[in-house]
Amino acid sequence: MRLVNGYWATGILGAAASHSLFTHLEAGADTADRLAARGGISERGAQTLLDGLVSLGLVELRDGRYRNTAEAAAFLVEGKPACLSDFAKLKLAHMGDLAALPEVVRAGGPVTDATVEVADNPHWEKVVQAIAAQSVPVATIAADLLRLAEAGEISILDVGGGSGIYSAIWLELNPAARSTQLDWGPINAIARRLVAERGVADRFTCIDGDFHTTGFGTAAYDFAVYSHIAHQEGAADNIAMFTKLRDALRPGGTLVINDYIVDDDRSGPPFPLLFASEMLLKSKQGGTWRRADYHAWLTKAGFEDVSFQPTPSPATLVFAR
Ligand SMILES: C[S@@+](CC[C@H](N)C(=O)[O-])C[C@H]1O[C@@H](n2cnc3c(N)ncnc32)[C@H](O)[C@@H]1O
Repeated sequence: MRLVNGYWATGILGAAASHSLFTHLEAGADTADRLAARGGISERGAQTLLDGLVSLGLVELRDGRYRNTAEAAAFLVEGKPACLSDFAKLKLAHMGDLAALPEVVRAGGPVTDATVEVADNPHWEKVVQAIAAQSVPVATIAADLLRLAEAGEISILDVGGGSGIYSAIWLELNPAARSTQLDWGPINAIARRLVAERGVADRFTCIDGDFHTTGFGTAAYDFAVYSHIAHQEGAADNIAMFTKLRDALRPGGTLVINDYIVDDDRSGPPFPLLFASEMLLKSKQGGTWRRADYHAWLTKAGFEDVSFQPTPSPATLVFAR
């Protein structure tokens, strides 16, 4: 029954995020009537959300008082860099799209215009800002592992950089670094604004265009980023992109891939296995790819050293040199 009604979780979480419930709880509103007053919602609605959130393990109840669990405090309170509340609101808005899944499964791909590949798709304007929170911990881990802060005058290419979150974090960590992002024009405009808010826009450049058809240059970058892109592309396009990225990197340069990657026998992990349905729904050739796929595609593209680094998020980092 819990699985059959799994959409209750998306609904309750999305509604709680819409009314900033986690933020109000963190600020001390710890009963339904206080939350109702603070959030401008009905007391009946507040109590119903609290009941649901207790069931979901996001809120704890002690002696008649509610408070965020550690996870909700870390990932759902507004203003924190890794806050996923905007993402929760977005997924609630997307929920209706899933009704098409039986037909999508029959057809083997999208049955509406809502594919992720379309140029200047307004879909991305909402997604990239919401998804940035997910990339914050991963971009930080990658920077630590690659010792970017001490790397001096490096140049970075971020393909499909979205919100510019990798550039923002990496340029903040390394004051001598420069970064270039390739994405659709309207998305780059969002990235420029967000990167400027962090005070590093003077070292951030954007190229507007389709990454399939835009050249990346030759031996121009020390690091390249391809984060949450491989899953929307099929094998041939990923190999073509990795080949262009290899050429764009200087000798000894590193390609950083971040994505939901499945085990070679497709037995796990759970999140990437579920995410494949999202790509069936929204992309013509996307999916969740196995470690063996990345290894084979990167080798074919000319990379010699490929390593995988799990992260505390559902995504895995891949470093290719
Ligand atoms: C899922 S978001 C990932 C954003 C960012 N890399 C991150 O990990 O947070 C995918 C990004 O790729 C961009 N994108 C998708 N297809 C593209 C294409 N053909 N050419 C250029 N950008 C594209 C989208 O606009 C969006 O910014």
